[in-house]
Amino acid sequence: MYHLERKTLELQNYQKEICQVHHFEVGTLLHYNYPIKVFQVTSKLDHNVKKVIKAYYKDSTYDDKKIVKHFLSEVAVLATIHHPFIMSMDFMGSFPRYFAYVMPFYEDGTLTKVLPSIHQEMSDEYFVQLCAAVNYLHNKKVAHRDLKTDNILITEKKILIADFGLSDILPTEDTMATKRKGTVVYMSPEQFLKRPFDPFKCDMFALGVVYWCMVFKVNVLNQDTMEPMMETVRTKLSPTSIDRLILTNLLEYQPEERLSIFKLIFLMEESCFSHRIAKLKEQRFI
Ligand SMILES: Nc1ncnc2c1ncn2[C@@H]1O[C@H](COP(=O)(O)OP(=O)(O)OP(=O)(O)O)[C@@H](O)[C@H]1O
Ligand SMILES: [Mg+2]
Repeated sequence: MYHLERKTLELQNYQKEICQVHHFEVGTLLHYNYPIKVFQVTSKLDHNVKKVIKAYYKDSTYDDKKIVKHFLSEVAVLATIHHPFIMSMDFMGSFPRYFAYVMPFYEDGTLTKVLPSIHQEMSDEYFVQLCAAVNYLHNKKVAHRDLKTDNILITEKKILIADFGLSDILPTEDTMATKRKGTVVYMSPEQFLKRPFDPFKCDMFALGVVYWCMVFKVNVLNQDTMEPMMETVRTKLSPTSIDRLILTNLLEYQPEERLSIFKLIFLMEESCFSHRIAKLKEQRFI
C-alpha cells in the first residue's frame, strides 16, 4: 500500500512536466488504474480549451515492457485512424518517468454512464454510429479487442470509440490471434478455447454485448443475476424484432456463424435502421 501511495505521489509530481511543457493546468482525475492515469487539463492560455491526458507510468518494478507495448500500440493506431466516431489524438510524448498522449475532452462521459436513461432514438443512433466506426476499423485491419461501454465516450449526441491499448493491426484478413484480451463478460467464447481465433469476430461479439447493454439499459458488469445474455434476449424480446435478430447473430457462439460488420450493416439496411445508415453513407462515414 505504502509503495502504491508513494508511486501515486511521484506520478502527481511528474504529471506537472507535461503540463508545464504545454501550459496546462491539472484538473479532475478521470481514471486511475496504476500504472495508467487519465486526467483532465485546461490550457492556461485559453480556459475554454480542455484536454485529457492519458499517462503511462514507466516503472521498472512493474511489467515495463507491457506498458511500453500497451502505449505504443495505442498511439500507433490513434495516429493512423481518422473517423468522426473514433477518438482522435492531439499529440504524444515521452517524459522521464512516463509516456503520455493528449486528446480532446469529451465531457458527457462514457456510454456506461448514460445507459440507464438512454431512449430508443438515441440508442439507435449510437448503435449505427458504433457500426460505422467498427466498419472503418475492420476495413483498416484494426481489431479493437476491448470494445465495452466504458471505452465508448459520448459527446453532443455522438459516440466515440476510445482506449486502443489492446488493439491489434492485423496484416491480412485471415490473421488469427491466440492471446485472450479484454474484459471477461465481453469476451467471445472462442477466446477461451486454446485454439487460434479471429479477432474481428471477437469485436463483433463484444459489439453484441454493448448492444445488449443498450437494449436492456443496464451495465452488464452490474448484472446481479447469472442469467445468460441470450436467455434475456429470448424471454424479453419479440421473436420478430430487429433487436432480437441483431443480438442473436452477434452473441452467436460459433464465430463462423456470427455476423461480420459488413453483414451486420447489410442486415440493418433492410430494417428500421435503413435511413440512419443511408445518412451516414451519404456523409461518407460508412
Ligand atoms: N477523452 C476523454 N474524455 C473524457 N473522459 C475520458 C477520456 N478518455 C478517457 N476518459 C475516461 O477515462 C476512463 C479510462 O480511459 P481509458 O479507457 O482510455 O483507460 P484505461 O486505463 O485503458 O481503461 P481500462 O480500465 O479500460 O483499462 C474512460 O472510461 C473514461 O471514463
Ligand atoms: Mg478503458
